[in-house]
Amino acid sequence: MAEALNGLKRTMMCGEPREEHVGKKVTLMGWVQRNRKLGGLQFIDLRDRTGIMQVVFGDDVSEDIFEKAKGVRGEYCIAVTGEIVLRSAPNKELSTGMVELKCEDIKILSESETPPIYIKEDLDAAESIRLKYRYLDLRRPDMQNIFMIRNRASKAIRDYLDENGFLEVETPILTKSTPEGARDYLVPSRNYPGMFYALPQSPQIFKQLLMVSGFDRYYQIVKCFRDEDLRANRQPEFTQVDLEMSFVEQDDIMALNEGLIDHVFKTVLGHEVSLPIKRMTFAEAMNSYGSDKPDLRFGMKIQNLTEAVKGVDFKVFSDAIANGGSVRCLVVEGGASMGRKDIDRLGEFVKTYKAKGLAWIKNKEDGIQSPIAKFFKEEEMQKLLDACSAKRGDLVLILADKDSVVLQGLGALRLELAKKLDLIKDKNEFNFTWITEFPLFEYSEEEERYTACHHPFTAPMDEDLDMIETDPGKVRSKAYDLVLNGEELGGGSIRIHDAKLQERMFKALGFTEESAQERFGFLIDAFKFGPPPHGGLAFGLDRMIMFLAGTENIKDVIAFPKNQNAYCYLSEAPNIVDANQLEDLGIAISVKKEEE
Ligand code: AMO
Ligand code: AMP
Repeated sequence: MAEALNGLKRTMMCGEPREEHVGKKVTLMGWVQRNRKLGGLQFIDLRDRTGIMQVVFGDDVSEDIFEKAKGVRGEYCIAVTGEIVLRSAPNKELSTGMVELKCEDIKILSESETPPIYIKEDLDAAESIRLKYRYLDLRRPDMQNIFMIRNRASKAIRDYLDENGFLEVETPILTKSTPEGARDYLVPSRNYPGMFYALPQSPQIFKQLLMVSGFDRYYQIVKCFRDEDLRANRQPEFTQVDLEMSFVEQDDIMALNEGLIDHVFKTVLGHEVSLPIKRMTFAEAMNSYGSDKPDLRFGMKIQNLTEAVKGVDFKVFSDAIANGGSVRCLVVEGGASMGRKDIDRLGEFVKTYKAKGLAWIKNKEDGIQSPIAKFFKEEEMQKLLDACSAKRGDLVLILADKDSVVLQGLGALRLELAKKLDLIKDKNEFNFTWITEFPLFEYSEEEERYTACHHPFTAPMDEDLDMIETDPGKVRSKAYDLVLNGEELGGGSIRIHDAKLQERMFKALGFTEESAQERFGFLIDAFKFGPPPHGGLAFGLDRMIMFLAGTENIKDVIAFPKNQNAYCYLSEAPNIVDANQLEDLGIAISVKKEEE
């Protein structure tokens, strides 16, 4: 039985009634959290997105109404009308706990089957069930709270950018492959059988075209699509706060975005970001933290022992050095008391990062304990300990290999130790840093050529222009990332606006004139018509909301997310399509995924 509203109006939200409203007659609408009988009374907890209100039916209502109230079950959608009265036994847990609604009338707007998940905070249910019944999962107050945070953040972003002269402009979703370098999602064309649109990995090229058009300052809160391996902070479709500015240099863009971040964190959390945000070069981040997104909430920097161990007769170290690699370490303060099993586990851990082993030295009160001590003369050991300032009671963890393996391994080990040893003391800290001077190119072993670290339109640093042809690996770029607590929140760059330089860049990346024209011709052509100096940045909005809402799972901040295999439990996408749809598109399926 579903009753119509028939003119009945909601006059208050469930979370609003307070003592000051006592005596007021109101109509509330929402979902039944709980219905219980106590003595001769019937109590319904009524919920909407603002909170819960207790509704009580006494012997002063007609038997019909009382019977109707009694029959109401969890998650029925109802409307109740009555007077707000003081509660004899206040409930401090509820914001409305001082009062209750003395109900005079009830309408059952719709009934509900028993829901497959509990509508409550801190639900412990399988992800597949939560996502299949996402509309019920989203009824839960902690989920609704996240989307209120998301709404406040988006509004704060729009307000700030509007005030700073930005224009929101939409760009195409059905488009051509963009230069971010992940795998594209493709959409077949019916008009041009055998041809495909690509969904944008970002609006990169279009926002640069808008600069050519003289829009000056553009932004968009926009969906981007990347077919890549998914992780806790990656979804196949995600949202960027994407922006671009004309007539600016790197510092201008960074300053504006610092203002944006400060405004958002202040508006949503009341948190003041300390400005200016500190900066670190990519080289320093890699050398000290083994990562281009260092978590700076704790110390324990990577230290270089290469010089200190030169001459030590230990093959693992001397071979690594002779092959152009290095020997580096982490010093774990007070770590000398760590048990053998725990250290062995760390050794296994670094092996997943291609390290061949992990050497360790316990600098104990009563002397050195280490499987590699036998290779060291006493003064050589002292030199090593001095070089990394290891005190009595500390544990030194050492990797020797080529630089990339050593830095990546120790970088990952540093984070693992922070978790294990609880090194991050202030869980509410927001530690921001810019990473600057990224390399322009990275060498792809797979493709046997240089690829763009950021994308091919990123400008090289002026100091390094001469090396583009001679030593591409050494060229630094005008690219920057904003890192928060060890996560990449956003990234951008100053773009090349000089056609000659862009040509050199394409050449260095192995594009021929024709292949560059084929992929990016419309941008190359546009740049023949007076492109302004410009640059920009894009934030991952979902990641920003994760921080604002305090969750480590990106799915929590997206209303209808996909699972780790880019599957939607709710809509069951992707799915098989009709044969005639395929025929229209001129597509024949040659591989069928086996039934799971
Ligand atoms: P970039 O590729 O660094 O830059 O992306 C910008 C930001 O988007 C977020 N992000 C993601 N979030 C969730 N799931 C994903 N799969 C995902 N991939 C990226 C990250 C990242 O920092 N066009 C350039 C920006 C520019 O140069 O202006 C770009 O897209 O937080
Ligand atoms: P071995 O003499 O082979 O037993 O090695 C002595 C120690 O060196 C062991 O604790 C190994 O884990 C460690 N070891 C092996 N390879 C490396 C490496 N590439 N870097 C650091 N330590 C290593």
